[in-house]
Amino acid sequence: MNNKIGLLVLLFGLALACQESPTTSEENTRPQEKTTERNNSDYYTEQHRPQFHFSPDSMWMNDPNGMFYYEGEYHLFYQYYPDSTVWGPMHWGHAVSEDMVYWEHLPIGLYPDELGYIFSGSAVVDKHNTSGFGTTENPPLIAIFTHHLMEGEKAGTTDFQYQSIAYSNDKGRTWTKYEGNPVVPNTNKIKDFRDPKVFWHAPSERWVMLFAAGDRILFYNSPDLKSWTYQSEFGLGWGNQARPWECPDLFELPIEGTNESKWAMLVSIGKEAANGGSGTQYFIGDFDGKNFTIDTNFGKAIGKNTNTARWLDWGKDNYAGVTWSDIPGSDGRRLFIGWMSNWQYAQIVPTEKWRSAMTIARTLSLRRTTEGLRVCSQPVKEMLQLRGAAKKLGAEATNYRLAEVLVEAKGDVAIELSNTKGEKVVLGYEAATNQYFIDRTESGKVDFSKDFPGKSIAKRATKGDGVKMQIFLDVSSVELFGDDGESVMTAIFFPNEDFSSIRLLGDGVETAQLFELKKTW
Ligand code: FRU
Repeated sequence: MNNKIGLLVLLFGLALACQESPTTSEENTRPQEKTTERNNSDYYTEQHRPQFHFSPDSMWMNDPNGMFYYEGEYHLFYQYYPDSTVWGPMHWGHAVSEDMVYWEHLPIGLYPDELGYIFSGSAVVDKHNTSGFGTTENPPLIAIFTHHLMEGEKAGTTDFQYQSIAYSNDKGRTWTKYEGNPVVPNTNKIKDFRDPKVFWHAPSERWVMLFAAGDRILFYNSPDLKSWTYQSEFGLGWGNQARPWECPDLFELPIEGTNESKWAMLVSIGKEAANGGSGTQYFIGDFDGKNFTIDTNFGKAIGKNTNTARWLDWGKDNYAGVTWSDIPGSDGRRLFIGWMSNWQYAQIVPTEKWRSAMTIARTLSLRRTTEGLRVCSQPVKEMLQLRGAAKKLGAEATNYRLAEVLVEAKGDVAIELSNTKGEKVVLGYEAATNQYFIDRTESGKVDFSKDFPGKSIAKRATKGDGVKMQIFLDVSSVELFGDDGESVMTAIFFPNEDFSSIRLLGDGVETAQLFELKKTW
């Protein structure tokens, strides 16, 4: 190499290296990384790699973040540490999809900077350009997230978390952090002060921000996404008392079959959920743009300071889930995705190249059941495109790899997934207790955590004797939607050899159908 070329190569290399680890709050771009190689059959074939769930290309992922819909694309950001398969300095990884089923990986959206790591948060389309970061013709996209200053935490301070914003003018491909960050400083030095969810409240023509502050949720208002004013708080003493609360969300849902609507608030808790460890509870009430008031009946049902909660998902592996913003009114759905893991063992599950996946996307609805109002979750209808051949399902072993199973029964019913090594997962319904269950005690690799093996249960919200189950089986997870989404369970597993055999047990089965599913990578 002659000297001139050598120098050019060196300069080019240096330029690339600088772009790869931006440290200023202004710049947040990096050259296009590897994107999905959907047509390459060697892609995503590692053992345990989910075949129709979103997972990071490599390395560590936790909560879904900043989900919004814009110009035909569903955006999904996520807590991401690109240098390791365990949690570390948080970035926002990024992916887009036209249907929440097939995902394309995009370059990292947000990098840590001098204000800290980029913790969980949300994103909105600023249609009226209230922030002034774009124009009404090309509205800016605004991400609202928590900055977490590790140096502050290590030094023993309590004001190391605060809320900041960034904007994008190019369909979310690159983001610029606001120079006035943080937009909500931690003046009262509250140790847990994080996970902002922002939405436009049309009746009061104001932006609303809610985020978790230890044992409660705080509400703020803003006209422009930059200046925020404290309004109110909710939560002290309500629901499960395990703290800190994390990743709240708040949205209005119509009550099925009526002209009424209510507001549902999701709050995740890292420990002591329904079957141990992480889980997401919810509250039902009203919201006037400033205050959340819990519904009298809902409040009575869970009581104050009682540790009783309503669970969005009873399984051990659906955490920190939140909903998409800016879904067009013509669609009208409230769309949700959760992180398919649990802080009890998320960092030690037996995968090597990547860690964690998201649940399938779900549509949330509000239903009046005999036990009161319930937030129900059902698979998004876009999942139907994955259905392939239908197979008969019965007591005889049926081969499968990826499947959707539909079962209607009266009385006990169990579905057993197994492999040639005798490992299995059993799930189903027990009439005596009126509960759904997933038992992964003998599911293969279970020794990595004492909290992993075992049987999880989900109470039903009805006493009716006919049960209906819709079940999604990927190579390392199962999602069970009972009674049209009234009782939901999500669980991951790691057999030494993929499960390939499925059997139906129990005498109460009325109909049972299995659809092979296509992979999405
Ligand atoms: C939830 C959570 C959030 C936080 C993020 C950090 O899993 O603890 O509260 O913002 O993860 O990665």
